[in-house]
Amino acid sequence: MDSVIAVYSATGNSLSIAKRIKGAEIHFIEEFLDGRYALPESTVRLGIVFPVYCFGLPFPVQRFIRDCLSARDNSNLGYIYAVATCSGLPLTALSDLETELTGIGCALSYGATVKMPTAYLPLKKDAVGEIDTLAALNKVQNKIEHIIDDIENERIMIPSRWVMRRFFRALSRQAAAPRKGQLMAGDRCNGCGICTHICPMDNIRIENGKAVMGDSCISCFACYHRCPPNAIIYPKAHGQYKGLVDTKELFKR
Ligand SMILES: Cc1cc2nc3c(=O)[nH]c(=O)nc-3n(C[C@H](O)[C@H](O)[C@H](O)COP(=O)(O)O)c2cc1C
Ligand code: SF4
Ligand code: SF4
Repeated sequence: MDSVIAVYSATGNSLSIAKRIKGAEIHFIEEFLDGRYALPESTVRLGIVFPVYCFGLPFPVQRFIRDCLSARDNSNLGYIYAVATCSGLPLTALSDLETELTGIGCALSYGATVKMPTAYLPLKKDAVGEIDTLAALNKVQNKIEHIIDDIENERIMIPSRWVMRRFFRALSRQAAAPRKGQLMAGDRCNGCGICTHICPMDNIRIENGKAVMGDSCISCFACYHRCPPNAIIYPKAHGQYKGLVDTKELFKR
């Protein structure tokens, strides 16, 4: 396949954008990381579609560039583009990506950010719901269409490098690092295992018929939002975000 999109998407926003870009094969970054998929030598167009985490790159995206892309000969990659979905504060995320790519000898040809309906619970004051989702999406439809048109026509738009990028980079690396999270399965958990297929960090096991979270949580909230009985407890939770793709489409393993 000469056009591939490497997508990282916890709650489905980024996957919904990737799916709209025509003519590219979509693979989850998790597939690259655990060796199920490697970028074919013939690839000439690479898309990286991901959410902004803590003004920077999610941990799996950092690893994708440092462990997977850096290990191959990228001289055939003529057009590398990125779309970062966010809740309105992308700050240094694209600049960070551009710095990472430059560090392994690749060049980012195009980068855009798009504000999406957000499921980021720590910042959510209101209940997460359907009306919120549709209204937020309607506001950015035109922008999404422009971005897709730019990408399909291989236009160039290089994100500017932030002067403060080193500071933000250190901050976001620290904030986005895997750790023991605050989420846990409550009494309503029926051991269905859906969260184990969805977790990007493979951080959930079913033990004695209940989901148990390990120490590698990146607080993506995918498990929380997609748990059918809403059994996952988070201190500031306000309803579930059912998002823009089906739960099964988010199964990583
Ligand atoms: C851990 C975490 C950190 C986030 N940090 C930011 C941020 O710094 N700026 C921002 O605008 N959105 C931030 N968000 C919101 C996401 O970027 C946004 O909801 C995104 O569209 C989710 O994409 P996904 O559904 O593909 O996972 C954060 C979300 C999470 C889970
Ligand atoms: S998805 Fe929910 S109900 Fe199913 S195992 Fe996970 S926490 Fe339990
Ligand atoms: S345990 Fe839940 S919140 Fe933590 S990384 Fe996995 S899916 Fe995301």
